[in-house]
Amino acid sequence: MTILADQWGIHPQHFWLRGRRPEQPIHFDEKLGMWHVYGYPEALAVLSDPKTFSSETARLFPVEIDQSVFEGNLVQMDPPQHGKLRKLVSHAFTPKTVADLAPRISRLTHELLDAVADRDRIELVADLAYPLPVIVIAELLGVPSSDRDLFKEWATTFFESTNQFSLTDHSEEQERDFQAQMDQTGVLLAYLREHTAERRRKPRQDLLTQLVEAEVDGERLTDIEAVNFASLLLLAGHITTTMLLGNTVLCLDLHPDEAARVRADRSMVPTAIEESLRFFTPFALTHRATTTEVEIAGQRIPADRMLAVWAAAANRDGRQFARPEVFDPARNPNPHLAFGRGIHFCLGAPLARLEGRIALNILLDRFPELRTHPDDPPVFLPSPDLTGLGALPLRTG
Ligand code: HEM
Repeated sequence: MTILADQWGIHPQHFWLRGRRPEQPIHFDEKLGMWHVYGYPEALAVLSDPKTFSSETARLFPVEIDQSVFEGNLVQMDPPQHGKLRKLVSHAFTPKTVADLAPRISRLTHELLDAVADRDRIELVADLAYPLPVIVIAELLGVPSSDRDLFKEWATTFFESTNQFSLTDHSEEQERDFQAQMDQTGVLLAYLREHTAERRRKPRQDLLTQLVEAEVDGERLTDIEAVNFASLLLLAGHITTTMLLGNTVLCLDLHPDEAARVRADRSMVPTAIEESLRFFTPFALTHRATTTEVEIAGQRIPADRMLAVWAAAANRDGRQFARPEVFDPARNPNPHLAFGRGIHFCLGAPLARLEGRIALNILLDRFPELRTHPDDPPVFLPSPDLTGLGALPLRTG
């Protein structure tokens, strides 16, 4: 099995996908003005200590940002506000809400695959991995899934830059990337504001209505909080799961013997999906800001410094995972960091896992062959923040 990192457009910075290990588990990057955290125990320590490693990283950005875009954005919040809001939204986004979606996910997967049933080639991302999660999250929220080309356009703006965000870069290019993201956020928020206002006037059976109505200890979400949280769900709720589906199918293609085992014994599907999350971690990194001087792996980091916590690299750390370069669909336990850890652990993980399991089982049921071909290779997304496929052409016959 060879990962053809350069041919497939895997980001040059993702050295762990080129068979290399970091020289140190953490190191300071002078060019970007931030610390990289690559080691598993180090990443775990950072993610598990929100008091020392804050998620309110925007205060360190080199450009001014309208703070209202962060209200209700759970990933950018610290305790105690984070806990209060998480409790409120968890009231609307419950395990039952997710479990009830199973029949719809299954039906949708079949419908999307029916549309390409007579072909001997499919492009997994366009034909299934993109539309499935975006339709599911749009229907759940209660916004028209027919607007999905718009959502794609908005999400693309966030992840089209090939440069890693830098604290020292005052170039026009970074300003422009940032401005484009802010403008796009404005458009997305305006779109959701309209839908949210309508739900206040006319409640429906959807998550947007539940979000505006959710109440814990006499507190409700403000309009801005509901809209910002909905925008987080809409964005985080689809591109990541798109990557999970594409990456899992590519992992199986790269490992035909393991693929045969999973095909023959479907009870391995859940562990195969966890291993795919470890092997190709969709959200490669997350950021934190130090609130005080702290020591990690023998290095002193001053207060108010930014950390890039590379879950994707930590998931390949031999101190935590035996034979980390090996894709083992039976790996169990598999304490990967693909969904984060601690108080910010991904709220959508049960939905992503459910979609992954249903879609993979149906793909395996319907296609005796799902193979890449060297003439038509996979294409990875260009952003350093992501490890996921933008296109996965497959032969099915
Ligand atoms: C948080 C990854 C799917 C909603 C996170 C975090 C990660 C992550 C790494 C933690 C970020 C941090 O600590 O800074 C993923 C991956 C997914 C996925 C790899 C798919 C394979 C979803 C879905 C939804 C979702 C389907 C919603 C429907 C959220 C939310 C948070 C979050 C709301 C914030 C939780 C908090 O801060 O308390 N996700 N996610 N995610 N994710 Fe996901």
